Amino acid sequence: MNNNLVLSIEGGHKIGGTARIAGSKNGSLAVLAATILNEGQSRILDVPDLSDIATLLKIFDALGIHVDYNSSTKKTLVDASEITSDSAPYELVSKMRASFFIIGPLLARLHRARIPLPGGCSIGARPVDLHLRGLASLGAEITIDHGIVEAKAQKLTGANIVLDYPSVGATQTILMAACLAEGTTLIENAAQEPEVADLVQYCRSLGVEIEGAGTARLIIQGQKSLNVDIEHRVIPDRIEVGTFIAMSAVTRCPLVLAPVVPEHLYSAISKYQEMGLEFEMIDQVMHVNPCDDLRPVSITTAPFPGFPTDMQAQLTAALSIVPGTSSVEETVFENRFLHVAELRRMGANIQVKDRQARITGVDKLLGAPVEATDLRASAALIIAALVADGVTQISEVHHLMRGYEDICGRLESIGAKAKLAPQNEVVRW
Ligand code: EPZ
Repeated sequence: MNNNLVLSIEGGHKIGGTARIAGSKNGSLAVLAATILNEGQSRILDVPDLSDIATLLKIFDALGIHVDYNSSTKKTLVDASEITSDSAPYELVSKMRASFFIIGPLLARLHRARIPLPGGCSIGARPVDLHLRGLASLGAEITIDHGIVEAKAQKLTGANIVLDYPSVGATQTILMAACLAEGTTLIENAAQEPEVADLVQYCRSLGVEIEGAGTARLIIQGQKSLNVDIEHRVIPDRIEVGTFIAMSAVTRCPLVLAPVVPEHLYSAISKYQEMGLEFEMIDQVMHVNPCDDLRPVSITTAPFPGFPTDMQAQLTAALSIVPGTSSVEETVFENRFLHVAELRRMGANIQVKDRQARITGVDKLLGAPVEATDLRASAALIIAALVADGVTQISEVHHLMRGYEDICGRLESIGAKAKLAPQNEVVRW
């Protein structure tokens, strides 16, 4: 694990050129979970080399599913024809709470699944009640005993399910279970995130009839079994795109990003345009052109197609040196301002009350030792460090490694002065 590594960044350097966008972390996790449904071979392309992916593949190994991941080609071969266990190990699920959503496909394949109840994380309590209610609607018997969720059902039967909230994970759990349920399942108020739409495409390629990809209404015609040798390419990571756009904004330096699917992040592009950035798309290549006089903005995070919560910390960091007053309202998670305390240590002027942050732009930030608290907060610290005066040392970088493949190498490839070294090693530029 990278617990004692520190990412040091010397601020004030111009960046430029092209940043490679990796395959979507969240999209890969969902599609890999869905390969459990398939008794054929699944070749999943563009899966990023991340600790979260490695954790999920270790869980597959524990379930007896054959997996072969090639970190240089990013190809993953999954053979779930034989699954020898219906129980996921606590020590792995606790490391990556998102692995909980394998409960849906595992239950659908084996008629029983035992998954440790995921804990919360730094950004919120992260309950799974909507996942469990959805599985119960499909006929599963759910019990929770000693922190283990057991879902059992000799047969799953299609149902009409209305989600209280368009939860990404709950939509994915129910969607995957419904693929092997008898009859039709309707999911109303489904999550519309591009990662959900891509999961629908993968399930359709397995032979499941599904209507409504990318909409709030999914209709799934369950199949008895699925046995297809299939290849699926994961969508580019839109959150990475938003992260690099924030780097361009904060440094006022143009960047080229590729590949980008612009319709996956129209709300973020629109907000950055309101700030004064200009965008040009040529095929799947995005040219980001910031101006010197960026303008303050107000954002409210929301489920897709609203402004993504996963891009909030990065934009907050970029706004910290935009003259004027900006405001951020975080409506998706209850504790997603942990990056603010660290940004304030770098000289940012941000006041947080409940789910609102008020950002007053300052002339400059100062490099400092800071601590990453969660995945997107660590990205915010990188963004601030790029323009801070002096060197910023970011510790607890394991948070970063969960979601940004080779981030140090990619920062260097666009001209940033970044070095990853053990805590006690003196970094020389
Ligand atoms: C997914 O998490 C993403 N993770 C998150 O990305 C992302 O922030 C989130 O969707 C929202 O877009 C993965 O895809 C692996 P939710 P998920 O269920 O599915 C409440 C990142 O940085 N809720 O849409 O867990 C929940 O508490 C990560 O890449 C319930 O109340 O998100 C939250 O307030 C962070 N009951 C809200 O819904 C439930 O059963 C949104 O959660 C489920 C969720």
